[in-house]
Amino acid sequence: MATIFRTWSYRYQWIYNTVSAVAALAVGGEGRLRRLPLMGLKIEPETAVLDLCCGAAAVTRILVQQSQRVTALDASPKAIARAQAIAPQATYVEAFAEAMPLPDQSFDLVHSAAAFHEMEPEQLRQILKEVLRVLKPGGVLAFVDLHAPRNPLFWPGLATFMGLFETETAWQFIQTDMLALLAELGFVGGDGCANADRTLHAGGSLQVVHAYKPL
Ligand SMILES: C[S@@+](CC[C@H](N)C(=O)[O-])C[C@H]1O[C@@H](n2cnc3c(N)ncnc32)[C@H](O)[C@@H]1O
Repeated sequence: MATIFRTWSYRYQWIYNTVSAVAALAVGGEGRLRRLPLMGLKIEPETAVLDLCCGAAAVTRILVQQSQRVTALDASPKAIARAQAIAPQATYVEAFAEAMPLPDQSFDLVHSAAAFHEMEPEQLRQILKEVLRVLKPGGVLAFVDLHAPRNPLFWPGLATFMGLFETETAWQFIQTDMLALLAELGFVGGDGCANADRTLHAGGSLQVVHAYKPL
């Protein structure tokens, strides 16, 4: 069930930004949080990048500094309008991630931040299949999202955040074995091994995953 705080955070961008900035303190601040999924990836001016569920361009604005071929997709017209004002260099697509109006094998990198936990389990599977479709062989899905903390000290903060701002899908998401799901759908790790590459941050309450489409 959604609380009024969730509604407000989507209605008033400053509330979203403040919550995001406070949450980011656990990994060293907003700037670091936004760059975490991009670390270790080579992004050049010709790299074709998709920022999936881009919201108000928190990461799109970084991606357009590195690549001249950034597409950003979101289902919300309001988010797209905000993003366009912040990072006008990107090409924007208003669409659902589970049915992207984008060609097969067109991106080297699909990035997504803090969005997958908002999806129903079947919807998430469909989105990941779509990501696999639009990635070029050897391309990478890089995402950051919630994870069940390994350090018990991080549970109270995460549970409070999720209770105020999230819905049941976030609780389902942190119980999902993303590495198993990605492997089942056909993603592999960077060295071709079965599992995608994952690093945990903030006591394990955040996961950063790099999952590759096989060559
Ligand atoms: C929590 S926000 C994250 C936004 C941004 N990535 C960030 O890190 O600030 C989730 C975003 O996903 C978008 N979204 C939710 N469901 C979607 C779907 N099925 N297809 C495309 N976008 C979706 C919402 O409109 C929202 O902008």
